[in-house]
Amino acid sequence: MGESGRVLAMASDHGGFEMREYIKKLLIEDGYDIKDFGCYSVDSVDYPDMIHPAAKTINDGDIKRGIIMCGSGNGAQITANKYANVRAGLCWTVEQARLIRKHNDANIISIPGRFVSLEEGWEMTKAFLNTEFERGRHIRRVEKINKIIK
Ligand code: RB5
Repeated sequence: MGESGRVLAMASDHGGFEMREYIKKLLIEDGYDIKDFGCYSVDSVDYPDMIHPAAKTINDGDIKRGIIMCGSGNGAQITANKYANVRAGLCWTVEQARLIRKHNDANIISIPGRFVSLEEGWEMTKAFLNTEFERGRHIRRVEKINKIIK
């Protein structure tokens, strides 16, 4: 992904806070720059408040990839996918994390902080960041995603 791929957006609510902190530390050790949209403690917050600004920065092309979390991963993913240029995939296995890149060209991974271990979250993050889009027939399918029926 080149140098621009070394900057990542991260965001979570309290349900993903511990996971986000854990993964953020490891990413920084790996040389990534993190734009962190919060939250900043385990106090209860509303996930859209953190996910919207993170998703917007991906949508606008300012940052290429994002890693988001909440307790289930669903609220975060649903919020992020409101943005036309965002493809956020909810993942709970490493294979899922590979597939959202290979088949869906996802630019955000959503991790369920309360349903996978910290180590699984980290392994999924690495798989997401290090897997390329397969292109081919998947280009056509991804292009159809935003062609909603009016
Ligand atoms: C917070 O309790 C929880 O609802 C949130 O983290 C998330 O799972 C929502 O989808």
